[in-house]
Amino acid sequence: MFRKWAPTIIKYCLKNRTIISPQFNFRLLRKFISSKLLKTPLAIMVEPTCMCNIQCPLCTTPHKYMTRTQGIMEFDTYQKLLDDVKEFALIFYFNFAGEPFLNPHLFQMVKEAAKNDIFTMVDTNATLLTYARIQEILDSKLSILVVNIDYAKKESFEQFRKGANFHATMKGIKELCDLKKKKNGTFPLVVAETIVSRANEIHLNELYDFAMNTIGVDGVWFKPLCFPLHSKGFRENNEVEVLVDKYLPRTSSIKRYTYNEGHLQLDHYKNFCEWEYKSVILWDGRVAACCFDYDGNYTFGNIREASFLDIWNSPKYRYYREKLIKPKKLELCEFCSII
Ligand SMILES: C[S@@+](CC[C@H](N)C(=O)[O-])C[C@H]1O[C@@H](n2cnc3c(N)ncnc32)[C@H](O)[C@@H]1O
Ligand code: SF4
Ligand code: SF4
Repeated sequence: MFRKWAPTIIKYCLKNRTIISPQFNFRLLRKFISSKLLKTPLAIMVEPTCMCNIQCPLCTTPHKYMTRTQGIMEFDTYQKLLDDVKEFALIFYFNFAGEPFLNPHLFQMVKEAAKNDIFTMVDTNATLLTYARIQEILDSKLSILVVNIDYAKKESFEQFRKGANFHATMKGIKELCDLKKKKNGTFPLVVAETIVSRANEIHLNELYDFAMNTIGVDGVWFKPLCFPLHSKGFRENNEVEVLVDKYLPRTSSIKRYTYNEGHLQLDHYKNFCEWEYKSVILWDGRVAACCFDYDGNYTFGNIREASFLDIWNSPKYRYYREKLIKPKKLELCEFCSII
């Protein structure tokens, strides 16, 4: 995939002087050194909202069982965050427990991050890609837009993305890809994300062809399916055996689990967790532990009341990062499917 994108990225870098501009390099270098010396996080996950307009049955941040107050991040909260982290943050993921496009300021947020040389990524269910939104995307300097294309057929797509309309969603993605090409633009790179499950594992070549050639995306990422068993509500209302029979791929190697004699096992278990050097900012400004803490049960302060670095360096957050998050010892980690 990298080979496919490399010429485009190099072309963009040359066109935008991102490689040859000394000022740009210096700033990036400074950010990198700061992460090494001051141990600042490299990446920040920003939650534009925790609400969603559809109800995917296997959503990793299940709204049905969410007990925290739902809302949309205000621009002031975002601006405060950006001011606090712009000197060291390299990446902003606009994504977490909801549909980012529900935040009306999303692409203003992206634009401000891009002005500060922050690489930006938005994950979307792509159901809200109106013409006006497409124009905003193209003007925002967004680096990567991840759109969900799990199936090429209406019925299966609408079962997996319950509440989405297949034809309208694909039309929106295609319109974005076409307009971007018409403008001769490279960014955002539009990446189709396909979650590999039992129902699509034998159609991956067709899906790749559909996404690349019929819709016109720049790349396809096949993602291993995760069961949201870190959610107590989801665990109590779903039997693992039933989930396995319905969703776990039988033949594909793109999977997280093996199911053996009633036991679900992670295929590539890692002893450490990367959230020791990343951070999540919930829509209300609270700083949370990781992308599995969808209910905000482990939070360390609010960026509306304190500076991000004061929170990051607070004894409580440091203790959690070093003693509980890194070695995967939070209660939540027991059911986490990070590999
Ligand atoms: C919780 S969603 C939030 C962003 C947006 N609403 C979306 O669906 O793209 C974040 C990411 O998790 C992915 N995701 C949702 N359910 C999943 C599952 N069961 N296994 C793996 N990834 C999943 C989504 O496709 C998306 O890329
Ligand atoms: S669109 Fe995203 S946030 Fe919404 S239910 Fe589906 S996976 Fe969850
Ligand atoms: S291993 Fe633990 S800290 Fe890391 S993502 Fe999973 S639940 Fe979060």
